[in-house]
Amino acid sequence: MSKRISLTRYLVEQQRVDGLIPGQLRLLLEVVARACKRISFEVNKGALGDAMGSAGSENVQGEVQKKLDIIANEVLIEANEWGGHLAAMASEEMEGIYIVPNRYPQGEYLLMFDPLDGSSNIDVNVSIGTIFSVLEKPQDHPGVTEGDFLQAGAKQVAAGYCIFGPQTTLVLTVGDGVSMFTLDREQGSFVLTQENVRIPEDTKEFSINMSNMRHWDPAIKRYIDECLAGEDGPRGKNFNMRWIASMVADIHRILSRGGIFMYPWDKREPNKPGKLRLMYEANPMGWLIEQAGGAASNGKQRILDVQPTQLHERVSVIMGSKNEVERVAQYYAELNEQPSA
Ligand code: AHG
Ligand code: MN
Ligand code: MN
Repeated sequence: MSKRISLTRYLVEQQRVDGLIPGQLRLLLEVVARACKRISFEVNKGALGDAMGSAGSENVQGEVQKKLDIIANEVLIEANEWGGHLAAMASEEMEGIYIVPNRYPQGEYLLMFDPLDGSSNIDVNVSIGTIFSVLEKPQDHPGVTEGDFLQAGAKQVAAGYCIFGPQTTLVLTVGDGVSMFTLDREQGSFVLTQENVRIPEDTKEFSINMSNMRHWDPAIKRYIDECLAGEDGPRGKNFNMRWIASMVADIHRILSRGGIFMYPWDKREPNKPGKLRLMYEANPMGWLIEQAGGAASNGKQRILDVQPTQLHERVSVIMGSKNEVERVAQYYAELNEQPSA
């Protein structure tokens, strides 16, 4: 039997052998993985548990909260607040930051998460996930503020997601490539199943919500029109389309076999830069994609270079196979358009 490497062993080796992660960050990642395992079990209970349906409340962004959005948020907070590795947390489901209570020691890291991504898929038994991003707390002042979180994605020290699909898979980067760990339910542990994930630079598969086509700006419309024209069009090849409406699932497919994922700015709400959130979705996914050899852009700028100005900031997202993302950026440049990102 081939050697099985657990997430714990992988992280210990990253710390000890490769010196890539400090001990506190290793602990943090272990705790996040444990929380994801808990969430996975709640997800799997489905209608047998009490996790389906609406919670009857709205989050700070005016979106209806599902029970599982709230459960996942609580699981992540409870798991992470007492270990001494964190200074504070921020979540898509909470208006302000959550500072580690005084009764626990304060650590040096900041954790951000989208506790449950793909909420509209919970009740229809389609893949969903948890996305997370880790920053270092600036050390130039005591205590922790919301401003400490407003760091560009390039400053992340760890990022990943856990997808709850036919398998539960944790996908992680600490800046040394992307690794995947599959949950072994019999052993109760994540096991390394893929290292050094690479995204092909070219693709024949795109991922966008086509129902928004009439609202897109010309660069996106041109790119998709050319894909749809297939062999007879300027691209000279046929394209396939996939849209799961869970970013985790669409990005997981792209990390597995390539493709381009887009949730661009559109005219529905012109003052909103996009639908997806910079801190909880675009930054962690953008870094994973880059670490796997892909690219992540908002049409005019690398996503990881966007300087956030607020916690719940949104952004236009174009990420995946490098050559396709660069092509879309090129179309924006050619049209001399500025997507308001
Ligand atoms: P969330 O469930 O965390 O609010 O995120 C949903 C996001 C993302 O996962 C997905 O790509 C997108 O919203 C789907 O949006 P549409 O329903 O507009 O297609
Ligand atoms: Mn989400
Ligand atoms: Mn969410």
